[in-house]
Amino acid sequence: MNEDLPAIIGGEPVRKNPYPKWPIYDRREEELLLEALKSGRWSVGGRFQEEFERRFAEFQDAKHALLCASGTVALKIALKAMGLKPGDRVIIPAYTFIATATSAIDLGLEIAYADIDPNSYTIDPESVRELLDEKTKALIPVHVAGRPADMDALREIAEERGLMILEDAAQAHGAEWRGRRVGAIGDAGIFSFYQSKNITCGEGGAVTTDSDELADIIWSLRNVGRPRTGPWYEHRIYGWNYRITEFQAAVLIAQLEKAPKLMEIRDRGAEKLDKLLDEIEGVEPPKKDKRVTRHAHHLYIFKYDPTAFSNLPKSKFVEALKAEGIPCSAGYRPLYSYPFLPPSKPLPNTEKASKTEAIWIPQNVLLAGEKDLEDVQKAIEKIKKHSHKIPR
Ligand SMILES: Cc1ncc(COP(=O)(O)O)c(C=O)c1O
Repeated sequence: MNEDLPAIIGGEPVRKNPYPKWPIYDRREEELLLEALKSGRWSVGGRFQEEFERRFAEFQDAKHALLCASGTVALKIALKAMGLKPGDRVIIPAYTFIATATSAIDLGLEIAYADIDPNSYTIDPESVRELLDEKTKALIPVHVAGRPADMDALREIAEERGLMILEDAAQAHGAEWRGRRVGAIGDAGIFSFYQSKNITCGEGGAVTTDSDELADIIWSLRNVGRPRTGPWYEHRIYGWNYRITEFQAAVLIAQLEKAPKLMEIRDRGAEKLDKLLDEIEGVEPPKKDKRVTRHAHHLYIFKYDPTAFSNLPKSKFVEALKAEGIPCSAGYRPLYSYPFLPPSKPLPNTEKASKTEAIWIPQNVLLAGEKDLEDVQKAIEKIKKHSHKIPR
C-alpha cells in the first residue's frame, strides 16, 4: 500500500484518532439532571427553566429569553408574535437551514430569497434592497456558522422601511456584533440547542428579545395560548404546546456554565486553522470583519478552489477529506433548489458557495489541540498533491 496516497484511493488516512466528541458533559450535568428528576417537577413549575432563561438572556445581552422545543418552533412563534399575517413577505437568505423558510411558510407568509455576501456567507443587504416591496414586513438575517450578519446595514433598511428584524442566531451562541451579543440587536432572535450546537440539551430552542410585549406573547404562544397568570384552562390567544422539560433546562444550565471556556478554545483553534490554511494555495480561510467582535465558530467555513485541485469537484473533495479522518461537509444547497419550496432565479453567490466553494468543518474539531489541527492542513495538502489521480 502506498501510504502517501489519499485514503479515498487506497492510502492510509492522515488521522485514525477521532476529534473531540460532541456533545460533552461532566458531573455538573449529571448532578442537575438528577436534581430535576428528584424534584418531581418535570415540566412546568420547576426551577431550571426560569433560571436558564434569566442566565441565557444575560449571556446574550437581551432582556428576555424564552425556552421552547426547538430552533424551528422558536422561529415560528417569534414571527407569529411579531404580528405577521398570511400574505406578508419576509426576506431570508437563500443559503440557510431549511427551517428559516418553513417556519415562515407554516404561518402563511411569503418568502423572498436574498443572495449572500461572498465573504461572510450571510445575507447581502444590497440584495435585500432589491427585493423590498409593499408586502415586505420583516427580514430574517441568519448568523451562519456563528458569524453575525451585517446588522448595521440591515437595521438601516429596517428603519427606513418600518420592517421587523428576527435574527436567526441558531448557530451563534455568544457571537457579537460591535461588542453586543446577537439575539436582541433586531426585534427578536432565535437560538437552537440541538445536539450539534455549541450549547445543547439534545433538542431545544429559545427566543430572545428586549421587548416586554413580544416576550409576553411568546410566553403564551409556546404554552397553548395561556396567560402568564390565571387559571390553567384559560387561553387568551391561539397557541401550541412548544414547551421544553426541566431535564433539558437542567442540562442547559450546566452547558451554559461551560460555554465561555469552550468559546475561548474555539477562538484559538480557528486562529490556528486560519494560519494553517493560509499556507495552502487553493483554499482560503474566512475573511475577517472588524465589526464582528466575536465569532461563535459553530462551523469553520473555508473556501475551496477546484482549479487548484485538478478540477476535483467539491463533493469529491469533501469525500476525500472525510476519508483522511477530517470531519467536514459540503453544507447547504440553495433553498430554492428544493422542489417543495418557492423557486427563484439562481443567485450567484449562493450558487458558488453551495456548489463549488464552501467547505464546513464542525466546531468540535476546533476543540482539538494545535497538533491535531495540523492534520487538517496535512490532509488538504495530500489531496491536492494527488488530486489528478482521484476518479471523478
Ligand atoms: C440557521 C438555523 N436556523 C434554524 C435552525 C433550527 O433549529 P432546530 O434544529 O433546533 O429546530 C437551525 C438548526 O439546525 C439552524 O442551523
